[in-house]
Amino acid sequence: MSVAILGGTGIYNLPEIKVEERLINNRYGEAVAYVGQGNYRDVVFMTRHGIKHDTPPHKVNYRANMRALKDLGVTRIMATYAVGAITNDYPLLELAVMRDFLDFTSGREFSFFDAIKGGIGHVEMSKPFCPILSAKTIELAKKHGINVHDGATYVATNGPRFESPAEIKMYQILGGDVVGMTACPEIFLAAELGMSFGAVALPINLAAGLEENITLATDNINEVRENMVRLMLDVLHSTTNEECQVPILL
Ligand code: HPA
Repeated sequence: MSVAILGGTGIYNLPEIKVEERLINNRYGEAVAYVGQGNYRDVVFMTRHGIKHDTPPHKVNYRANMRALKDLGVTRIMATYAVGAITNDYPLLELAVMRDFLDFTSGREFSFFDAIKGGIGHVEMSKPFCPILSAKTIELAKKHGINVHDGATYVATNGPRFESPAEIKMYQILGGDVVGMTACPEIFLAAELGMSFGAVALPINLAAGLEENITLATDNINEVRENMVRLMLDVLHSTTNEECQVPILL
């Protein structure tokens, strides 16, 4: 059994950990996974945009990736997302623990239930993110030198364009806190395959309309990202399958 770190923009390796690249073909397409070596054989790393950052959000093969993680024996995932902040409650370069989402994506392959023998299923999304993984993230953040803020609602857009100011205003009114382009359908695909899923968002800019032009935070960003990955690993190694939760199938 394994755990996985699913990295977003800027997360292209696991600091200090040797990995072996695996190209995985499944019925949904091709995925690239990096399997830890030595003491980290239980860790799988995947970076959804590719290590050269050449797969845009709407072209990520989310189903191939999630199926590959499942077939590698992954049971618990911690995912990271670079986002824009749409409220003041989530400062730049401080971690936002995701607890809910608003899905505005379209045209993506977003379910396994059109291809699995045995009919259809419906994952329940009352708790989209594993509460145990979220709580452990908050508990361990300080140790890794990271400021953390709980309770973020993630707005998923199609991208690759950024939003308009009016769209951001709408997302604020609807209760969104941060905006990104990739968490959907990852969250519910993982749930359909029975994997526990925790997620953190790292705001790297104020969303459209909140300042004159969007500027990306760059100061100390590599250090923050490395600390974030160390935190994710610590969270995964400080929790067990038995205590973690997966949304139920109805
Ligand atoms: N919008 C959407 N996705 C993003 C943003 C944003 O402002 N920043 C980083 N990813």
